[in-house]
Amino acid sequence: MFFKPLFVVLAVTACVVYSQAPPPPPFLVGAPASTVNEFNQLLATSGGLTDPQIDAAVDAWVAKQSDDIKSKHEQFKQEKNKQQEAAKAAHAAALANFSPEAKDADAKLSAIADNLSLTAQDKSQQIQQLLGSLPANVRQEIEASMQG
Ligand SMILES: *[C@@H]1O[C@H](CO)[C@@H](O)[C@H](O)[C@H]1NC(C)=O
Repeated sequence: MFFKPLFVVLAVTACVVYSQAPPPPPFLVGAPASTVNEFNQLLATSGGLTDPQIDAAVDAWVAKQSDDIKSKHEQFKQEKNKQQEAAKAAHAAALANFSPEAKDADAKLSAIADNLSLTAQDKSQQIQQLLGSLPANVRQEIEASMQG
């Protein structure tokens, strides 16, 4: 949806796989159901877009909403930046304890997650494929590091 570090990408991927109706993002809490639906529709059709394209589509959509939503979205973006910084720090800390195999896999996963020319669908597919190709112990090492 927005530029995300790997941990967030994986969490969102899991969310997409396991949940039918995602809760509305914080900037749409309290918004009319029709507005939330419109936003979900936008996201549902954005699988073929790259992250910068999705960001642009979301920004364009938000620009047409109420002042309340616009200002909440601005706050949301700032909050998200902070969380990304925190996630990067957590990632760096986890990386320090990884086995060489997990480090190698992590570098490949991060390259996919950070690739701005991949669409959301490609990203999710390539990440699942890579995770699926890892030996069980390496995958467990990476997954365990993501549980907070
Ligand atoms: C991004 O993905 C494309 C398509 O898989 C690939 O050709 C390109 O080399 C990747 N770029 C980086 C920086 O990894």
